[in-house]
Amino acid sequence: MMIRKIEENVYNVGAVDWDRVIFDELVSTPQGTTYNAYMVIGKEKTALIDTVEPEFYEELKRNLDDLGITKIDYVISNHAEQDHSGALPMLLRDYPEAKIVTNSKCRNMEKALLHIPDEKFITVKDGDTLSLGDLTLKFVFTPWVHWPETMTTFLVEKRIAFTCDFFGSHAATSHTFAEQYDRIYHEAKRYYAEIMMPFRHFIRKNIEKIENLHQQIIAPSHGPAYSDPDFIINVYNEWAMESTKNMVLIGYVSMHGSTKKMVEYLVHALQKTGVEVRVRNLVSSDMGEFAMDLVDATTVLIATPTVLSGPHPAAVYTAYLINALKPKTQIFGVIGSYGWGGRTVNIIKSIIPTLKVKFLEPVMIEGAPKDDDFKKLDELAKIIAGEHRALGVMQ
Ligand code: FEO
Repeated sequence: MMIRKIEENVYNVGAVDWDRVIFDELVSTPQGTTYNAYMVIGKEKTALIDTVEPEFYEELKRNLDDLGITKIDYVISNHAEQDHSGALPMLLRDYPEAKIVTNSKCRNMEKALLHIPDEKFITVKDGDTLSLGDLTLKFVFTPWVHWPETMTTFLVEKRIAFTCDFFGSHAATSHTFAEQYDRIYHEAKRYYAEIMMPFRHFIRKNIEKIENLHQQIIAPSHGPAYSDPDFIINVYNEWAMESTKNMVLIGYVSMHGSTKKMVEYLVHALQKTGVEVRVRNLVSSDMGEFAMDLVDATTVLIATPTVLSGPHPAAVYTAYLINALKPKTQIFGVIGSYGWGGRTVNIIKSIIPTLKVKFLEPVMIEGAPKDDDFKKLDELAKIIAGEHRALGVMQ
């Protein structure tokens, strides 16, 4: 049980999931997470903003009981994904007078996902307000952070923006507000990379909408809240803007060492040109860290052996992930070793249709690398450095 006071009459009554290691069976969460639900107590009405992952409902209920909440008038639902909406049926059972307040897209999703009847909903439009007596909630649509229906709820008098997934971090913490030892920059960046990056054009517009509220606190539904909202807004602006860094990200897999030798040589050659290199083993690396590197990398290289007639499956998975995450990457290349030919390069190219990148001439070599092959890698390093100079990411 853990009630975290945000301000007078505003409490985080959500749950801390210290043990969660993977989310959506897809993204790693090595620091666990929280499902924040915020109780706002007005003089006339009460509102709960978002709920928790269903298996944590008892924790939410205990927090509400401990706070002395016996009646909830409104449950504001900012997002239909079940880590925030999944406990709605249990809440409606225990607080039968409560109405769910949300937008029409979210309502329709929750009817489909949770089988909640239509009469339980109050539907709001962008900019609508709801009075709790002395306090006012304003609904600001912030689509695609993370689904099309996502919205932010703004507590007008206290200038608190409840942004749900937007500005969140998968970080289990007992702190109400972000503190230095939460390593919050790292976890917020991981969260951005894994969940928000595909929507960065929407993110830029939504940041503007949030800033126009002149909020003093940002309270997301994962991780700690921010009493210094400029911190998280500034890093989001940096991550979402178009510029990249003087960095090459190499994701590699090697079966018998030939591709690894190529990577090691290329790393050295790139370093000599003044380009920063990040190398990730695609079989053993945390792909969340790989996704974080994608936020910054100007160039991405996939290094893979040819297995049978195509890339190693780990390289295929990675290429698919990159295509889905839509990073700002501007240059893309494939290197690797083969035994008897194959279609490795074409297969990888076919997996990344959404990327707007310049393709480098691939360096695919037969067997273990020889002197001539190393020369090709020297040449590749020079080409990459030249591209980085031309793009202005390297002085
Ligand atoms: Fe935290 Fe998109 O749910």
